[in-house]
Amino acid sequence: MKKMTSKSFETLAVHAGERAPASDATPVVTPIWPAVTYLYDSMDDMDGVFEGTRGGPLYLRYGSPTVSAFETAVATLEGAAGAQAYSSGMAAIHSALLVAGAKSGASVVAALDVYGATFAVLNRLLTTLGVKVRMVNVNDLKEVEEAVRETHAAVMLAETISNPLLKVADVPALAEIAHRNGATLLVDNTFASPYLFNPLRHGADFVMHSATKYLSGHGDVLAGVVAASAENKTKLSELNKLVGSVLGPFEAWLALRGLKTLPLRFRRQCESAQQIAEWLCTQPHVSKVNYPGLKEHAQHALAEQLYGGKGYGGVLSFEIERADKAKVFRFMEALSVCLPATSLGDVYSLVLHPATASHRALTAEERQRVGIPDGLVRLSTGIEAVEDILGDLENALAKAA
Ligand SMILES: Cc1ncc(COP(=O)(O)O)c(C=O)c1O
Repeated sequence: MKKMTSKSFETLAVHAGERAPASDATPVVTPIWPAVTYLYDSMDDMDGVFEGTRGGPLYLRYGSPTVSAFETAVATLEGAAGAQAYSSGMAAIHSALLVAGAKSGASVVAALDVYGATFAVLNRLLTTLGVKVRMVNVNDLKEVEEAVRETHAAVMLAETISNPLLKVADVPALAEIAHRNGATLLVDNTFASPYLFNPLRHGADFVMHSATKYLSGHGDVLAGVVAASAENKTKLSELNKLVGSVLGPFEAWLALRGLKTLPLRFRRQCESAQQIAEWLCTQPHVSKVNYPGLKEHAQHALAEQLYGGKGYGGVLSFEIERADKAKVFRFMEALSVCLPATSLGDVYSLVLHPATASHRALTAEERQRVGIPDGLVRLSTGIEAVEDILGDLENALAKAA
């Protein structure tokens, strides 16, 4: 790199100390690289990077070493050739839909009980752009196949474990239906995390995550990621160079750090959620519990088979008997260990009222069709002592009764 010859104070203030040659020692953890732009020894080298004939960072919207490290880690954990990081889970889902073929005149068949914002992207945003959307019960494979055939769907979308009803998607069967009919299968794997399940290994074409949740795990970063084939990674990357839903290097660094403890956190969260779900089933003020780890759950056997007995996730939902919104709010305000805050997958236990939070974008009729009553509460189990969570729930249920 050329030496700076000017000695004026203003010039030194801008350049002094910068661009020291990198040491040949390798840092144990990936550093945060906040640089927006990069220099090369020659213009020919830079031209080669623009052209793609040589690798290297160029401009932060196109990617950066810290973000690449996070992408490589997720691709590895998901068994993918590549991954593309985003500024949020919704940016990831939106981009995957576009790359998979959601365009004017094309049809998308999606699970009815997806996260509220995903429902809204499909039914409010994409429909206004000319995409035809059909929402189906993904646990009824006959209905799925009919919808895909009738609409000549280009894209299918489902959640591995649905938010907030905890229905388990038969990803291998959905992939077979998709591919038999020339469609591409997108799976939101946020609730299962790659610890439990790798959709790509079971036939899915794209796997999306709100990395805000389990992958990061500490409630301090908003991020999304899509893992896919090398060809689709290139398409995702090219689209993102244009639209710029990029993950910042600081957030990528936090997410990468979070990933390291994913198996430890997730194992604990699965164990606690199982215990809490079983306990809630014995409570007089609880009329229904949704958790795939319960023997009576409609897809318990499927979940056991797909997740190999490793667990059933850290989220569960339950209905408080004859509860309206006011009673659920009373219950949530009476909690002190479980925090009534809008997220999931954190080390903290979090409770949420789907009807007024995650699924607020739906009309009352849409919520009724999906099956989200006002008395439904979603609990994302943290890593606290499970006795403390149980005691907190018991106390709040008694106060709300
Ligand atoms: C299953 C699921 N997918 C996607 C999202 C969106 O993620 P983000 O909030 O990171 O945009 C959420 C958010 O709650 C979610 O629960």
